[in-house]
Amino acid sequence: MAASLLLIPLSLSLLLQLAYGAPSCAAHDHTSTGSTLPLFHVNSPCSPFRPPSPLSWQDSVLQMQSADRSRLLYLSSLAVAGRSFVPIASGRAVTQNPTYIVRASLGTPAQTLLVAIDTSNDAAWIPCSGCLGCSATTFNSAKSATLKPVRCGAAQCSQVANPSCGGSTCGFNVTYGSSAVSASLVQDNITLASDTIRGYTFGCVNKVTGGNSFPAQGLLGLGRGPLSLISQSANLYDSTFSYCLPSYKSPNFSGTLRLGRKGQPLTIKTTRLLRNPRRSSFYYVDLVAIRVGARVVDIPATAFAFNPTTGAGTVFDSGTVFTTLTKKAYTAVRDELRRRMGKAAVSPLGGFDTCYSVPITVPTITFMFSGMNMTLPQDNFIIRSSSGNTSCLAMAAAPETGVNSGLNVIASFQQQNHRILIDIPNSKLGVAREQCS
Ligand SMILES: *[C@@H]1O[C@H](CO)[C@@H](O)[C@H](O)[C@H]1NC(C)=O
Ligand SMILES: *[C@@H]1O[C@H](CO)[C@@H](O)[C@H](O)[C@H]1NC(C)=O
Ligand SMILES: *[C@@H]1O[C@H](CO)[C@@H](O)[C@H](O)[C@H]1NC(C)=O
Ligand SMILES: *[C@@H]1O[C@H](CO)[C@@H](O)[C@H](O)[C@H]1NC(C)=O
Ligand SMILES: *[C@@H]1O[C@H](CO)[C@@H](O)[C@H](O)[C@H]1NC(C)=O
Repeated sequence: MAASLLLIPLSLSLLLQLAYGAPSCAAHDHTSTGSTLPLFHVNSPCSPFRPPSPLSWQDSVLQMQSADRSRLLYLSSLAVAGRSFVPIASGRAVTQNPTYIVRASLGTPAQTLLVAIDTSNDAAWIPCSGCLGCSATTFNSAKSATLKPVRCGAAQCSQVANPSCGGSTCGFNVTYGSSAVSASLVQDNITLASDTIRGYTFGCVNKVTGGNSFPAQGLLGLGRGPLSLISQSANLYDSTFSYCLPSYKSPNFSGTLRLGRKGQPLTIKTTRLLRNPRRSSFYYVDLVAIRVGARVVDIPATAFAFNPTTGAGTVFDSGTVFTTLTKKAYTAVRDELRRRMGKAAVSPLGGFDTCYSVPITVPTITFMFSGMNMTLPQDNFIIRSSSGNTSCLAMAAAPETGVNSGLNVIASFQQQNHRILIDIPNSKLGVAREQCS
């Protein structure tokens, strides 16, 4: 396969010649209304974080897969450590894959920042002014009249992984990939769309040393643990939000994040939202079967089992790109797809083991959740080169051993152009098709 092959979604960087703040970025329906925020892909023209030069299709796919592998390690580390919360910043990478970003304003007067959202994290992590070793994108904490340090005795300080209380204020030091990160825990107003959350607790990053793995953008954790934005804004948004991730194929990469009950779809298919004490930040659901085309494939129930002790089960995650299934589930899906492709030659690409140079004929794959079927069209399970010559099944098997063995992750490629509704008070997760890009 030629290395110059470009995949439509990823070749986009070629099209993205517009600088952040260019008129066409600001113009295209990117203004916030009510509690709805535009959501951008990190490679969008509206993102200052897009890569400087486009990668070949193969390199892009391999890079995303490698980031997914780190992400999986990170997700699993949360269970290994046996913590009941996701720390503000863990010893492992917090956002290996900060794929989607939103605009947020912090402080008084308000300063606008672009931050990555992550539905499997509670962390908020903002590069602050004076930060040694951070990128140029910083929150000027000295200029905010409402910024307050969190004191050592405060409840929030005990929710941080390794609090360091040298003085009276709460701080923490962590490693992020090859970087050492030093931050203090602070509170300030955060404004999303037109709503202000006062005294929002987040980590203000002061120093980054070693390596270059610290992500440029801050992080906005939308998990369900105590320090997440969702928990901190429960009075305002009733622990309810929805998002629609834009298609990788859309040049503008603009979807929406909608906070609160207002404006949510009135009729939407839903399944039970589960809480797993082992990984308490995650949005777990009950996946019961998978259909390839019209056929329900033979997968033992153990491949989907929800287990509060090990953390096994199925989660929706916005920070992983490609869905990973437990080995037995993945193998059954893949084998059925291969069976339907008959004699066509199959080849691997990086972590994908089922690629074809002829069109894939399977029209849909359906995740069957308790009480809800989510039927994916090809755009949500086949990744294609722009020439159309190569198509891969865009899913993979989770490692068979170790703590990940029981975790199925429904990832962002599979969620694009769907509205995902999280309704914590009613323990529901909703899914509806929506062309949001
Ligand atoms: C992308 O943005 C441009 C400029 O704002 C707009 O004209 C175009 O219709 C948008 N394309 C899509 C697919 O939304
Ligand atoms: C931030 O909150 C304080 C009260 O804590 C309020 O006086 C101030 O106006 C708020 N700032 C913004 C930008 O909303
Ligand atoms: C954290 O890092 C800062 C800056 O490098 C240092 O001054 C402080 O002593 C460190 N704290 C701990 C507990 O290691
Ligand atoms: C899901 O699809 C199956 C057919 O494969 C059907 O029997 C079942 O009733 C559907 N479930 C829902 C909730 O629509
Ligand atoms: C893709 O297929 C087209 C038409 O079949 C062919 O002309 C082209 O050379 C192929 N490209 C690659 C990279 O194989």
